[in-house]
Amino acid sequence: MSELINKLVAENLKGLKPYESARRIFAGGDSDSEIWLNANESPFANDYSVDSAHFNRYPDCQPPSVILPYAEYAGVEKDQIVVTRGADEGIELLIRTFCTPGKDSILICPPTYGMYAISAETCNVGVNKAILNDDFSLDIATIKSFKDKVNLVFICSPNNPTGTSVDKAQLTEVLEHFADSALVVVDEAYIEFDAANTWATELAQYPNLVVLRTLSKAFALAGIRCGFTLANSEVIQSIVKVIAPYPMPEPVAQIAAQALSEKGLALMAEQVAYLHGQKEALKQQLATFPEVTLVGDDKANFVLFRHPLKQALMDYLVANSVLIRDQSKQINLENCLRITLGNQQQNEKLLSLMTEFFAQQEPLA
Ligand SMILES: Cc1ncc(COP(=O)(O)O)c(C=O)c1O
Repeated sequence: MSELINKLVAENLKGLKPYESARRIFAGGDSDSEIWLNANESPFANDYSVDSAHFNRYPDCQPPSVILPYAEYAGVEKDQIVVTRGADEGIELLIRTFCTPGKDSILICPPTYGMYAISAETCNVGVNKAILNDDFSLDIATIKSFKDKVNLVFICSPNNPTGTSVDKAQLTEVLEHFADSALVVVDEAYIEFDAANTWATELAQYPNLVVLRTLSKAFALAGIRCGFTLANSEVIQSIVKVIAPYPMPEPVAQIAAQALSEKGLALMAEQVAYLHGQKEALKQQLATFPEVTLVGDDKANFVLFRHPLKQALMDYLVANSVLIRDQSKQINLENCLRITLGNQQQNEKLLSLMTEFFAQQEPLA
């Protein structure tokens, strides 16, 4: 780092390692020649049309064409939503809105999604951890011990990368415990794969509940960057003070509106059902490989497994242009790899490469 930059860069950013997104790890990858099963994206690329008639104008900050259908879809009121550039922006806005830099902290429950900690660190906000129990349930006693020490509690359900959903009684206990001291943020990025377990419909009951959603997963729109934060209107009004003046590009709003139409919702449901079918087939096949142990649960669009030769397996897949995600650096996930569900052809290619790989290994002791 040059002397000038070293002098100027914010103190809290000096040691920060950026989030290793799947796309950064394999930067410049070509989705036509490679099979991407590493970022929990959808394998479907659906068709949309865009009308450029108003591209000369700044867009609505919170376009009603997106807010209204999403409110209806999620079962909330229109003043209980803010639309953002992906759920990732929702995470950052919550931290910027509700935590004072250099003073306040958040609580996370690892192994979990990495952006809660990274966003907090970039904002000079502290990060406390209550590691999940061995069965990936919440460690309630440890979580509770952070009362009055954190402003936000991030709970991911279904959790990335364990695929587990948080038990209703546990989450109720957390919401009640922090009722007068912190917002409890339930990240539901994968909720369409476990729709019965949503918390969006509980907002009236818990003033400190916040729910994060996205169009990046089941809706197959990771490329447009569109997410939602659902919460009681006071929380939403505070976030809207902080958000950029024009966060929603007009083409994004148009595409999101189409995805949330009756036809768009039906397509999403059909594709989720297809992926559930793929998940069953993949899990059954994985279980037949030597020393493969499925880890966690399957409530989202990915499967996590452990294998002692995870590095050699990963290298073999990458050499054959199939990308999955190494999760082994996360706490309690030694030797774990995560496979995002692809389409049938992609999953079969992955499985045939895994069959080849295991056939080449000496029998394991
Ligand atoms: C749990 C979780 N939350 C949020 C996100 C980010 O979603 P978005 O693409 O809407 O920013 C992801 C993306 O992988 C995720 O796994």
